Amino acid sequence: MSHAEDQTGTRRDFLYYATAGAGVVTTGAAVWPLVNQMNPSADVQALSSIRVAVDSVAPGTQITVKWLGKPVFIRRRTEEEIAEARAVDLSELPDGDARNNNIGAAPATDENRSLTTFDGENTGEWLVQMGVCTHLGCVPLGDAGDFGGWFCPCHGSHYDTSGRIRRGPAPENLPVPVAEFVDADTIKLG
Ligand code: FES
Repeated sequence: MSHAEDQTGTRRDFLYYATAGAGVVTTGAAVWPLVNQMNPSADVQALSSIRVAVDSVAPGTQITVKWLGKPVFIRRRTEEEIAEARAVDLSELPDGDARNNNIGAAPATDENRSLTTFDGENTGEWLVQMGVCTHLGCVPLGDAGDFGGWFCPCHGSHYDTSGRIRRGPAPENLPVPVAEFVDADTIKLG
């Protein structure tokens, strides 16, 4: 049984609700409470910009931080993940827009989605994106799905290693929020 089939076959195991007050979600397919998205509390609104230390994130892993009431995936990609993302023919993509709030409308190349490092290089090592499925808002699982990226078990959407939708009902790539490195080890969201 492939990894993807295994995910699908046991999808019920992954469905649970995010606990109130959880600041960081590290794994699982939490269904982010809609009320969190629609009515951010005052303390959340005040944190329109946050800084995240990423020096301890190992290649091939990701952290999930909560920002403006929503999960944000910050992934440090391996050379293989980057190469795979950059080798994709754009004509294969259901959504041809990069969905990157830092640059506006642009082709969905991996270069247009990954984050430029503090010294101005776009090595593709860092990918920052909202952890909210563009179908109906579940939180996709990392290291999962048929394209080696993320898999949303709610209705079976597969995202690639650049967070682009490849198969399933989700209509758009995972959005890239406004983000930048403010020093070698720190990413600012917002
Ligand atoms: Fe992700 Fe439906 S919410 S596939």
